[in-house]
Amino acid sequence: MSTVTANTNNTKADWKVTMNPDDLYKNPMNIAWTFDYMMSGDKVEDLYKRAKQNQWDSDELLPWDTVVDPSKPLINDRSDIYHQMPFFKKLSKSQQETFTAHSTAQLLSQFLHGEQGALMTAACVTHSVPDATAKLYAATQTMDEARHVEVYARYCDKIAIVYPMSLWLKALIDATLKSDRYEKVMIGMNMIVEGLALGAFNNMYRTTQCELLKKLTFNVMRDESRHVSFGHAYLGPVIAKLHRDEVEDLAEFAFQAVNILAHAGTAGTLASRVDPGFLQVLENSNLDPQDFFKGIEAAEADGIAQQLPPGQIHSLKDLMLPALARVGLLTPTVRKKYEEAGIPVFDDPRVLEAMEGGHPVAA
Ligand SMILES: [Fe+2]
Ligand SMILES: [Fe+2]
Repeated sequence: MSTVTANTNNTKADWKVTMNPDDLYKNPMNIAWTFDYMMSGDKVEDLYKRAKQNQWDSDELLPWDTVVDPSKPLINDRSDIYHQMPFFKKLSKSQQETFTAHSTAQLLSQFLHGEQGALMTAACVTHSVPDATAKLYAATQTMDEARHVEVYARYCDKIAIVYPMSLWLKALIDATLKSDRYEKVMIGMNMIVEGLALGAFNNMYRTTQCELLKKLTFNVMRDESRHVSFGHAYLGPVIAKLHRDEVEDLAEFAFQAVNILAHAGTAGTLASRVDPGFLQVLENSNLDPQDFFKGIEAAEADGIAQQLPPGQIHSLKDLMLPALARVGLLTPTVRKKYEEAGIPVFDDPRVLEAMEGGHPVAA
């Protein structure tokens, strides 16, 4: 079981997340040396140059002295999907505020834990990818992710609460880290988890009322747009040269990863009934889980839960699936599996391409 501590005295956050046996495991990944140090002269080299030029130091760049009141919502009511649901509108103003504050803290905690996963996958790609330019690029991503862990850890400390990692996110990143080839690590992280993150960061950037969080998210998002571009720029040509059976193996891995996510019931916007962290959000907000999920079901029946508030991006539809389609990982065989699993396939890359430019986007 995980633990979470709501600290109302504004002292240090409690980081205790109880260990389970999966927190320590071996990884069968190859270590790939290369002695061809010539730079590739292609898009991956451009990304490496951009990464060098765009390094930043949060000590200098972010207004850390901003006062954040952990009991007040960090995001605007109008952009929160729960505020559109009839059952939620019936709650008292203070209960709505408490819930929004805690559910935002839970989402920020997922950003923090996810960044640690990204740090480890980027380090893993650095030692397992055979190409020299890709190795150097992956090293810059490793530093980016270290900075992201640092800034989210500092921000969560300001709101003095860290919720446990959602089980589906842990499962997704563990499957990525336990995979047997670097291509899968890049699919799991650079295409799927970072597609999810880019959408969630974009939505946070557009909806937060906290200047510190807005600036922090903007800078993190700019780094993330490079990470998503790397997935495409490097893996696209690699996949194009693979044997059909290997492509199917990668496509199957991508499907399994997307399937975990699609059935997690949340991309930071909607609650999961089985997420211990989310149940703690309800407990800390004094909301009865049965009533809460009944309210969500009723809103779903009215079609409210399926629509994101205006301007928000849907990670799966706008970022992840188009990214997988673009590198040839939505093969006819796996398309059938997506269909059977009830996951609609989208391959319009416009939002993805706009976000790779490194700017916030309104869907
Ligand atoms: Fe990151
Ligand atoms: Fe990243």
